[in-house]
Amino acid sequence: MSGLTAVILAAGLGTRMKSALPKVMHTIAGRPLVHYAVQAAFDADVERAVIVTSGRPEIDDYLKQAFGERVQTVVQDPPRGTGDAARVAIEQVQSERVLILCGDTPLVRAEELSRLVGALAQPGAAELALMTCALDAPFGYGRVLRDAEGRVVEVREQRDLKTEAEHATREVNAGMYAGQTAAVRRALAEVRPNNSQGEYYLTDVIALVARSSRVTGVLGHADALLGVNDRSQLAEAEELLLQRIRRRHAKNGVTVRGTPRIDDGVEIGEDSLIENGVSLRGKTRIGARTVVDVGSVITDSSVGDGVQVKPYTVVTSSSVGDGAQLGPFAHLRPESQIEAEAHIGNFVETKKTRVRRGAKANHLAYLGDGDIGERANVGAGTIFCNYDGFNKHKTTIGADAFIGSDSQLVAPVTVGRGAYVGTGTTVTIDVPDDALAIGRTRQTNKEGYASKLKERFAALKAAAKKG
Ligand code: UD1
Ligand code: CA
Repeated sequence: MSGLTAVILAAGLGTRMKSALPKVMHTIAGRPLVHYAVQAAFDADVERAVIVTSGRPEIDDYLKQAFGERVQTVVQDPPRGTGDAARVAIEQVQSERVLILCGDTPLVRAEELSRLVGALAQPGAAELALMTCALDAPFGYGRVLRDAEGRVVEVREQRDLKTEAEHATREVNAGMYAGQTAAVRRALAEVRPNNSQGEYYLTDVIALVARSSRVTGVLGHADALLGVNDRSQLAEAEELLLQRIRRRHAKNGVTVRGTPRIDDGVEIGEDSLIENGVSLRGKTRIGARTVVDVGSVITDSSVGDGVQVKPYTVVTSSSVGDGAQLGPFAHLRPESQIEAEAHIGNFVETKKTRVRRGAKANHLAYLGDGDIGERANVGAGTIFCNYDGFNKHKTTIGADAFIGSDSQLVAPVTVGRGAYVGTGTTVTIDVPDDALAIGRTRQTNKEGYASKLKERFAALKAAAKKG
């Protein structure tokens, strides 16, 4: 029992996003904004999180799916200010201490939150600690006002500032607080909407607690402060987060060239190389010693060790075994299963197809709904005709089979082990093991006929020009 609950405020209207989607559901680095504050809280040893929302079901659905039973949502309707939101949530808090965060500050770090919570445990500790930042341009933020002894006495919002000295205060409120639940609850009950916006300000809690007890300001990193209110800040926050992610992988032994986009949930093994212009998205796992070359996009997929992903390859919801080679310009659509040492070359498209160990399809092919045996070779221009306009059918190719170039396999159809399909064959009936299937019209050669043909065509062209 850490005896710590997080309250995360995410019920604001987010009007500046100009969006049908709730603000905290806009994504950066592959996850909704709200994810990051919740995750940072859990990483800082919070046991449960209570998230205040506007009641939009997509927020609930996401949080349940991502964090399960550890999160609970409460609805604040209408949004009457941060103090009102915190009051709604704190009714659900049973632990001794509470950590209050905003859902729209995704760059907050768990270490900083631990430091903030730690301030409550120090000798002669305060009942409330708030994260502060020193800014050269503090405009727009609540200012931390201290007395002559340097004790925090109040946080005052930009629009309620009065004196020159208040305006000049560089120390701002980051919007993150840790406190003794009882003290915070008591103070929240006393907050009144007596300010220029007529809102309940959570920040009034500081003055209320400071009156009878002590409030500590914990100086934090300025980037933790970055709140997302519009889409330009969304882009800015994402850029910072992507930078952090790239650095994290680089520290873990991954060579990261240029500025690939690597989502938050992606894992990459040692000695892998991620080139510029690559996107690794969603729940993607890349093994060790794998190269993902320029412009490739890999989404929700697992890629093994020592794989070569050549430029401009697209992989979606698929798996790739150790030592496989893909691309350039390969397209693995969902449920492709490329096993170890297999090769999928340029302009080859796979979908729901298993390409077993060491099998190869090196050029220009469509392989949908198939199962290709070990070491089989699929020639250039091969098409699995898997769709009859109504249903999808399966193509099965045995181990060590050879499919000649420009063949069509009309599914459902099976080519046996070690069988050989002659170039240009349309396979409509199953081919037994070790058989040769050949289904093309016989060629005839007419001796000396080429020059006659050319003469005839030339005459026709001349006649057309004259008349
Ligand atoms: C707040 C602080 C300010 C601080 C700044 C740091 C107050 C009054 N001011 O201002 O001192 O410098 O954060 O970023 O708290 N929300 C609700 N319900 C509401 C209103 C807001 O849940 O009724 C949520 C929002 O979704 C958001 C968070 O609370 O996640 C902060 O609200 P916002 O309006 O952005 O506060 P700021 O003006 O940024
Ligand atoms: Ca804000």
